[in-house]
Amino acid sequence: MDNRPIGFLDSGVGGLTVVKELMRQLPFEEIVYIGDSARAPYGPRPAEQIREYTWELVNFLLTKNVKMIVFACNTATAVAWEEVKEKLDIPVLGVILPGSSAAIKSTLTGNIGIIGTPMTISSDIYRQKIMALAPQMEVKSLSCPKFAPLVESNQINSSIAKKVVYESLAPLVGRVDTLVLGCTHYPLLRPIIQNVMGPKVKLIDSGAECVRDISVLLNYFQINRSRAVEMKEHCFYTTANPESFKQIAVNWLGRDLSVEHIELSD
Ligand code: DGL
Repeated sequence: MDNRPIGFLDSGVGGLTVVKELMRQLPFEEIVYIGDSARAPYGPRPAEQIREYTWELVNFLLTKNVKMIVFACNTATAVAWEEVKEKLDIPVLGVILPGSSAAIKSTLTGNIGIIGTPMTISSDIYRQKIMALAPQMEVKSLSCPKFAPLVESNQINSSIAKKVVYESLAPLVGRVDTLVLGCTHYPLLRPIIQNVMGPKVKLIDSGAECVRDISVLLNYFQINRSRAVEMKEHCFYTTANPESFKQIAVNWLGRDLSVEHIELSD
């Protein structure tokens, strides 16, 4: 048993899609979340800067005495996960491997689409992971730089969002039977994405897939939280306006919560 919280990091509100799934699958675990909305989106930034920001988020979570860190951000996973995982002595999970395995499992035709931020797509990491496991797959990758800013600005139900998603996904429509939402912000646009891709296309939520791995690791290292110990409140931190973060978080998670502003060095 280990009653310390699990730490989650993201460039902003996207990692809440992972948190929602964690609350559903592992309701006894306690959460500390840090979203760097003041510097989001990370996707168009240079790798060195993303690496530096990610370390700041990791170091912040370490001050909260977490027992495990989840990179609830594909972009940070693509750039810094390997390095951080090597340096820390607690488990560090990313979202890319679980998303890749789920896509392979889901596809019937072998045609898999990947959508993500400019950094995730240019890193080519999803295609490489999928090809390493199942070289017969046909992977089509597409960068969608406008999606995360739509989510950060809480425009997920706007007509602009519908237009942007429709125009951006056009190159993949009719060409894949499985689409990996390779950015944790994208499940907030899921109904629009599904509508554009068509009902037969299976959407893979990389974050939700990663919660299965969290569960396996908690069991493997025997660090589940004891149910006998009283739950403390989950802690949410943002580098931007806590009210804006809270509005999105309360809507998405369907529960009340408090959000605190913190400054990270820039
Ligand atoms: N949520 C992030 C991801 O999964 C990043 C979005 C961004 O900041 O560009 O890649």
